[in-house]
Amino acid sequence: MALTQAGTTSGDGWSSRTAFILAAVGAAVGLGNIWRFPTLAGENGGGAFILVYIGFVILLGLPLVLSEILLGRAGGEDAIGSVRNVAAHSKRSEAWKGIGALQITAGFLILSFYSVVAGWVINYVFASGGDFLGALFSGEPFAGAFAGESQEEITGRMGELFANPALLIGLHAVFMAATVWIVASGVGDGIEKAAKWLMPAFFVLLVIVTLYGAIVTDEFGDAVAFMFTPDFSALNPTALNEALGQALFSLSLAAGGLLTYGAYVSRDVNLAPTATMIAFADTGVAMLAGLMIFPIVFSVGLDPAAGPALIFQSLPIAFNQMPAGSLIGFVFFTLIFFAALTSSISLLEGPTAWVIDRFRFRRPVAAILVGGVAFAIGVVCALGYNVLSEVRPLGFWDIFADSDILDTLDGFTGKIMLPLGAFLVAVFVGWFADRRLVQQQTGLSGGMFMLWRFLVAFVCPIAVGLVLLFGLFPGLI
Ligand code: PFF
Repeated sequence: MALTQAGTTSGDGWSSRTAFILAAVGAAVGLGNIWRFPTLAGENGGGAFILVYIGFVILLGLPLVLSEILLGRAGGEDAIGSVRNVAAHSKRSEAWKGIGALQITAGFLILSFYSVVAGWVINYVFASGGDFLGALFSGEPFAGAFAGESQEEITGRMGELFANPALLIGLHAVFMAATVWIVASGVGDGIEKAAKWLMPAFFVLLVIVTLYGAIVTDEFGDAVAFMFTPDFSALNPTALNEALGQALFSLSLAAGGLLTYGAYVSRDVNLAPTATMIAFADTGVAMLAGLMIFPIVFSVGLDPAAGPALIFQSLPIAFNQMPAGSLIGFVFFTLIFFAALTSSISLLEGPTAWVIDRFRFRRPVAAILVGGVAFAIGVVCALGYNVLSEVRPLGFWDIFADSDILDTLDGFTGKIMLPLGAFLVAVFVGWFADRRLVQQQTGLSGGMFMLWRFLVAFVCPIAVGLVLLFGLFPGLI
């Protein structure tokens, strides 16, 4: 099988390298950076966790990002077809295409609950936006958010939302519909255009809120110290495990997104520096998100280890007490919404591209179909907070014994499917794919290629394999 043809079956693709970088950074930067990363860093003591995270990104994440993009570009189809093409070219078994199947299944499942969480974000966009407009019209544009509410009332908003299945499902529907609409519009006219508008807007808003925190609070120095002074006693094997899982999730690895986006990259793009930029941008945003959130959390004496409630409960309390908090709260939730949307479109694109290639469906039909089924699974996740709150889908399995429906899906994909998908990519690219093809795709030569290959062939499988093992059998550590 000769792999000389650029582009995909559909013939649609990125208009430029910058467009690809924006779309891939858009896929990478999402709820993972702004919600999960600061939450995990806060829970695991800050500095040491962040140092380990950065190490994982450089040694494992970056080589894997390059591996996935090159597989996509070399294969030139949807995630399954691309791996199958590269395997055929390398005279290897067709069964390797299972990597693609595993990845798009993971992406599809992540999409279904990701959209539910993004729905919570929309709820806060509206709540803070309405509040800001109210403050503006009553002549107090610099008021705090949720004026007149007690701390209990503000944190109680989350519980009220969870107790309201119709609202949860409605918000989830809005987010999924937006995602489907963009993907249905095509790679160039939908995904690329969305990334071109939303990502720059996201960066501007991120810088505004970070500067605001640095100027208005006196806690910026404390936040820097919290994030960058390593206290290694806070590190334990579970934290290492979480750091690697988070690195995979945040870089959008093993969920079909990068494999699929890679197929739309033209032949003349040099992939190694491109992959490096994507990994650095994603990690940079995670750091900035910490520098944005922690000063605000510290300024009102809240706990950085608040867990998943950090941005939905702690930050609204902070916005309540801070000058112009209603405006900043609105800006803050809007920026998370933008980040979530550019990620969810990459999650939907993976399975959609497969449906288009496999069944020859038109793109809008494929996007609506895949989005519709993911929506239905998300509905079940949303009901897990109210009507089905007793349900523990994998309750028989000790690692998921306490997990509600959404947490189970999150845990199953994050602890099992992503590490497994990343492990298989490393093994395939490092050991089985045609070496000449791989080297040519990376654009690397000499020592750099050897170093990259060493990381992919040895370091990634061992490290990711260990994470998978410990994730499955926490008793081992
Ligand atoms: N990287 C995204 C985030 O950090 O929120 C989540 C994600 C998007 C994972 C796309 C996987 C993926 F294919």
